[in-house]
Amino acid sequence: MNTPTIITVFGATGDLMTRKIIPSLAHLHIKGRLPEQFRVVGWGRRGWRDEQLREHVAAILDAYPGPKPGGGSRAEFLSMFFYHDGAFDDSAAYGGLADHVARFDIDWNVCSNKLFYLAVAPERYRTILGNLAGSGLTRGCGPGGGFTRVLVEKPFGSDANSAQALDEFLASLFTEDQIYRIDHYLAKEMLRGILSFRFANAIFEPSWSARYIERIDIRLWESIGVEKRGAFYDGVGALRDVGQNHLLQMLALVTMEQPADLSAEAIRAARLGLIKSLEPLTPKEVASSTFRAQHEGYRSISGVSPDSNTETYFCLKTTLAGPRWNGVPVMMESGKRMGSALKEIAVRFCRAEPCLCGIDGSFHNVVTFSLEPEQTIRIRFWAKRPGFDAGLEPREFTFFLYEHVEKVQYVEEYAKLLLDAIAGDQTLFVSTGEVDAMWRLIDPVVSAWAEGAVPLEFYRPDSSEVSDRAAAIIAACTSRLRNGSQSKAASRI
Ligand code: BG6
Repeated sequence: MNTPTIITVFGATGDLMTRKIIPSLAHLHIKGRLPEQFRVVGWGRRGWRDEQLREHVAAILDAYPGPKPGGGSRAEFLSMFFYHDGAFDDSAAYGGLADHVARFDIDWNVCSNKLFYLAVAPERYRTILGNLAGSGLTRGCGPGGGFTRVLVEKPFGSDANSAQALDEFLASLFTEDQIYRIDHYLAKEMLRGILSFRFANAIFEPSWSARYIERIDIRLWESIGVEKRGAFYDGVGALRDVGQNHLLQMLALVTMEQPADLSAEAIRAARLGLIKSLEPLTPKEVASSTFRAQHEGYRSISGVSPDSNTETYFCLKTTLAGPRWNGVPVMMESGKRMGSALKEIAVRFCRAEPCLCGIDGSFHNVVTFSLEPEQTIRIRFWAKRPGFDAGLEPREFTFFLYEHVEKVQYVEEYAKLLLDAIAGDQTLFVSTGEVDAMWRLIDPVVSAWAEGAVPLEFYRPDSSEVSDRAAAIIAACTSRLRNGSQSKAASRI
């Protein structure tokens, strides 16, 4: 971790740098977790000098609500930033960048580690990486010298084919162990804790199967809308924006097999194994098991087409296969402007049978991993109601991840991701196999929707009524199917 390191950020004056990268680097600086010799080269197109980038960083720190470096530490932090100006398609500017970073290496008398963070729209990747390769910067220092790594953000393509083309291009310049694909959900503390919860305790894992678990619900309800990202979002929609990545990763963590060990390879392989075990929906299943809707007012957002058919909400039912899961249904849903933020995985157990308690038949034990509104794990169970009578009442054990929440949005995730990218730990980064497997599940849904298999519905913003509507419609379709084929999966929902 203490090898001199230079991180070059393409898009240094952009939103990602402002909201995620700078606050996270500041956090790591306060915690003393950055290498002693560390530089950030910000590539921009504003014709700035180092001082202007440092003023920009200082202004971001001032506006940032979390703990920040003060006094000498602030000056030290700001002095890590250097500006490099250029158009992304100007090959000479990459030669300049190579000279820029070479000067640091000469000062330090080492061949430093170099990270390239593409904080830009994916359309820029080829231009930037092609030129970067031309300048020689994508080549590492050779045995014993510093590494070269590249960090890319989702979306990784817009379907399996484009993702594959992007990966082939990346693979022509880097080996897989140099490519760090970010899905920030993997770095969320609560989700990282799922593996410990499942595999370090003897209580839950024995019942973590179709024998005891009836269904799994994964929700990512946002109170916010598409904000200023109308143009981007309108070409993507909720399913591809968060379904293809965050929701499938949540599902993988909660249902994957125990990895052989805690190495990045083993954990990534276990996640991939689960994703690959899911059967893509057939067009008929898409029609019966998915629902899509758009919130009212979406079409008047800047950048959104006035006759847009993009979904801002979706709900999808799939079933888990394999000996462990044997048809357990999973509902995944996500929406913008849902009234309140609710992000969770709820694992619902089958009813106790035989149950000697004479209780309300609709009750289930549920284990809920919640990200929002609070980071908790809740376990719902029956308890005897105190008193003379033998009555029962539902109660809940709640584990609060943090006693006091000082969480600043995205710092938890991005600080961890940056630290791991420097340390060379790919556990929380998405592998090429995962990207491909996730698209192979999502593509058939997108195609069937494009062919009109599921009409676009509309919902009132700032309300979650659409979720009930979606659940009712899918349940009705599934029950029609059940009457046709007595499938185990259908009878569970
Ligand atoms: C991003 C999506 O990947 O995840 C956004 O592009 C979404 O549309 C965000 O708002 C949700 O992340 P979080 O961490 O705020 O739950």
